[in-house]
Amino acid sequence: MIEVAPSILNADLLHLEAEVQKIQEADWLHFDVMDGHFVPNMTFGPMFVSAIKDITRLPIEAHLMVEQPETFIPWYAKAGSKRIIIQVETCKHLHRLVQMIKELGCEAGVALNPATPLEVLDYILPDLDLVLIMTVNPGYGGQKLIPETIPKVRRLAETIKANGFGCKLEVDGGVNWENVHTLVEAGANVLVAGTLIYKDPDPAAAVKRLKHCAALG
Ligand code: DX5
Ligand code: ZN
Repeated sequence: MIEVAPSILNADLLHLEAEVQKIQEADWLHFDVMDGHFVPNMTFGPMFVSAIKDITRLPIEAHLMVEQPETFIPWYAKAGSKRIIIQVETCKHLHRLVQMIKELGCEAGVALNPATPLEVLDYILPDLDLVLIMTVNPGYGGQKLIPETIPKVRRLAETIKANGFGCKLEVDGGVNWENVHTLVEAGANVLVAGTLIYKDPDPAAAVKRLKHCAALG
C-alpha cells in the first residue's frame, strides 16, 4: 500500500488548522523541521506538533533537518510525533540515535540527501522503519525533483526486497503528477508532497488523486 504524507511547509500558515483539515484523507502529516544551520531555513518547533496533533487523527512524522538531532529527538517525540526522521549527514552516532528514537516509542527513519550514497545504510538498514530519499536538496518546498535520485530509489528498493527488510521507502521533494508513477514504479511506497497538494485549488481532491495515482503504480 502506498502512503501519502502531505508536507505543511507550503500550506497557508495563517490558516494552519483549516489547511490540516483539508488533508485528512492522507496517511501521514509530514512536518519539516529546519534549524537554519543544516539547511538555510527555519520552521516549526515542537509546540506545533503538540498543537496540531490535537486537531487531526493523522500520525505525524517529524523530518528533522537539524544539526545535533540528539537534542531535538526527545522534543518531537514528547510532543507527539509517531515517526522521527533524522538526516544521516547530521549524525556522528547513527546507530545510537536510531535506538534513542525507538526507545522513545517512535518509528525510526533516516533521510539521505541527494548526493549521499546508499552505502551509509549498510549496517543500520535492518533496524529502520523507513528510509527517506531526498529527491531535492533540503530546505525549501517547490523545487524540481533531481532525476539522478530515481535510480537511487530503485537500487534501495531492490536491496530492501532482496534482504526481506521491513522498512518503508519514502521520497520527498518535487513529487508531481508527471513523476509520481516513475517513483512508485522505482519502489517508493511513501510519498511526501507539499507544493503538489497545497498549491492545488482543492488540496483534499489532490490528496485523493495522489493516492489513486500511486495505487495505479
Ligand atoms: C524540503 C522538504 C520537503 C518539502 C516538500 O526540504 O523536506 O518535504 O517541503 O517539497 P515539495 O513542495 O517539493 O513537495
Ligand atoms: Zn520533508
